Amino acid sequence: MTPTRRYFDKHARSFDRLYESQGVTARLRRGPPGRVAEAVLEAGAARYVGLDLSAEMLALARRRVDDHAEVELVEGDFLDLDPPGMFDVVLALGLFDYLPEARPGAAWMRARCTSTLVASFSRWDRVKAPLRRLYYALYGCPLFNYTEAGAEELLRDAGFSGVKFVSRGPRGFLVVARA
Ligand SMILES: C[S@@+](CC[C@H](N)C(=O)[O-])C[C@H]1O[C@@H](n2cnc3c(N)ncnc32)[C@H](O)[C@@H]1O
Repeated sequence: MTPTRRYFDKHARSFDRLYESQGVTARLRRGPPGRVAEAVLEAGAARYVGLDLSAEMLALARRRVDDHAEVELVEGDFLDLDPPGMFDVVLALGLFDYLPEARPGAAWMRARCTSTLVASFSRWDRVKAPLRRLYYALYGCPLFNYTEAGAEELLRDAGFSGVKFVSRGPRGFLVVARA
């Protein structure tokens, strides 16, 4: 079991509760389990495939969206998974922070995306980022930060274009890119 999976298996519930009271931007940026799926399905998605390392995060998501026949939730490292078909929209919300190798991740997303990628990235700040990194280190879970230029280069190199920063904050940013 990877440290990241162990961390999210242990913290799934508190992670979910943390964002209960927060606004839409925070919810989209951090993506508590299943809530984004709910919004996507309400907006009329014909199919939703959710991939996650953590069985506990998936269990929470399953409770929210289990009644939707068009949902498939799969446990595993997304790099090892190959869901059939292509996707109009690929969501990577709160994911890149945990990827030791971002490039294969971005390439994986590009290979399956026909239209739009929505991805969030954490940026380094002098106050919260070191504390957050230290806290996750207690669980052996490494964290990764990005600059806007670095994220744009990452996505362009993977073959995405029209990278737009749709939300910017001191600790992170949300990007939309075209396949
Ligand atoms: C900040 S949470 C975001 C939750 C997710 N966006 C959602 O809406 O359910 C980050 C999630 O990424 C998952 N994760 C991290 N690395 C992963 C990987 N390589 N493959 C699949 N999931 C991964 C973690 O298990 C965790 O559930």
